[in-house]
Amino acid sequence: MPTWTVHGGKKLKGKLKIQGAKNAVLPIMAASILGGGTSRLVNCPQLSDINASVDILRHLGCKVSCRDNEIIIDSDNVCKCHIPHTLMLKMRSSVMYMGAILARMGEVRLSRPGGCELGSRPIDLHLKALKTLGAEISEERGEVCCRAKQLRGAHIHLDFPSVGATENAMLAACAAEGETVITNAACEPEIVDLQNFLRCKGAQISGAGSSVIRISGFRPRKFACHRIMADRIAASTYLCAAASCGGDVLLDDAIANYFYTVITSLRSMGCDIICGSNYVRIKSSGRLKAGRPIVTKPYPGFPTDSQSLMMAACLKAEGTSVFVENIFENRFRHVPEMRRLGADIRTEGRVAMVSGVERLSGAPLNASDLRGGAALVLAGLIADGETCVYDTGHIDRGYENFAYALSSLGADIKRI
Ligand code: EPZ
Repeated sequence: MPTWTVHGGKKLKGKLKIQGAKNAVLPIMAASILGGGTSRLVNCPQLSDINASVDILRHLGCKVSCRDNEIIIDSDNVCKCHIPHTLMLKMRSSVMYMGAILARMGEVRLSRPGGCELGSRPIDLHLKALKTLGAEISEERGEVCCRAKQLRGAHIHLDFPSVGATENAMLAACAAEGETVITNAACEPEIVDLQNFLRCKGAQISGAGSSVIRISGFRPRKFACHRIMADRIAASTYLCAAASCGGDVLLDDAIANYFYTVITSLRSMGCDIICGSNYVRIKSSGRLKAGRPIVTKPYPGFPTDSQSLMMAACLKAEGTSVFVENIFENRFRHVPEMRRLGADIRTEGRVAMVSGVERLSGAPLNASDLRGGAALVLAGLIADGETCVYDTGHIDRGYENFAYALSSLGADIKRI
């Protein structure tokens, strides 16, 4: 089991280029099969989730070459519409292929993605959107099957601004006859990045970033090239690390607007943060005070993916910090692990109260999900002595060379 050792107490200093965004490149890789042709994606992070997506593309019949942070996908020979359970299991976001394969092949069959560490995570909104476009949906032996001779443009209203359902609807609507309008759509920056890629591919699409998205046609182009946006959650992670450890860190290729709620929260805790057009610099003494309550919401609200990271930064902050997790029903799994370091955290349902403590002491901890795992590493960076974080494979799903990046800023962290 991959394990990291962390020795706390080091201030962080230096410059770090932020990786490309996992939650942007995954739906874009699925979109690359629309209309065939070749897609060149640059600034792609090197992550285990990306490898899982490459396996799915190759299974479907694509030629895929990966070198450093560049992926080239030739989807002319896509010939399958079924994703085996073994590939679906590797990555929950493989559900993104549902809309893309339906649009490309007129049929898709894949196993219903189970829940994950964060909660039940149903796909009812995804299926409702595809049904609205005219797809017939059936379920056999744990597999979802969607078929449509011809998808028809329609008004899709999402009951909740789900990121995944918005993306699946955008992908399927590219093959629909007539205009599709998605209302109450998710507004995350990754949706805008997907729109930009779809335009490169030949889609007539507008409105991403707002709650109303319009798709009015698709004339496939033979070649599309796209640079993946910077990862706002990875940037938030390094910002929280620098805030709680203390120090002076510059994050290069970080777009402040994309994670401004995290920046304003850290400023309210006493950090000095400067935002440039494509960089963010933080100076912190490491002695923080509790800030405004952290209430997770769909974008532009506080991102649920940064909740555990911010909690790590609050463990030694003077006063009591309040967290309300509105998006996922089971996203406090890092709390019992943080308590093993001596953190003072009380939870009641979706609310957590963190009372800052003077000291934390290193301990063995288990990572149970991607962001929770990264938060345990951040907590180890401010604990006395050695912390061992087990099962760090979760972290490799979303962070490129996490241990190396932190040690380049002066952290004492090693993979064993
Ligand atoms: C995306 O997941 C991200 N993943 C998640 O990041 C992120 O936490 C989430 O959006 C919210 O911001 C990717 O982009 C690959 P949702 P997604 O559909 O699309 C409920 C990370 O750490 N819901 O917006 O699965 C659902 O159960 C990951 O990088 C339904 O009820 O999120 C959840 O409570 C973790 N029915 C809420 O909506 C549906 O059909 C938000 O889910 C769909 C969703």
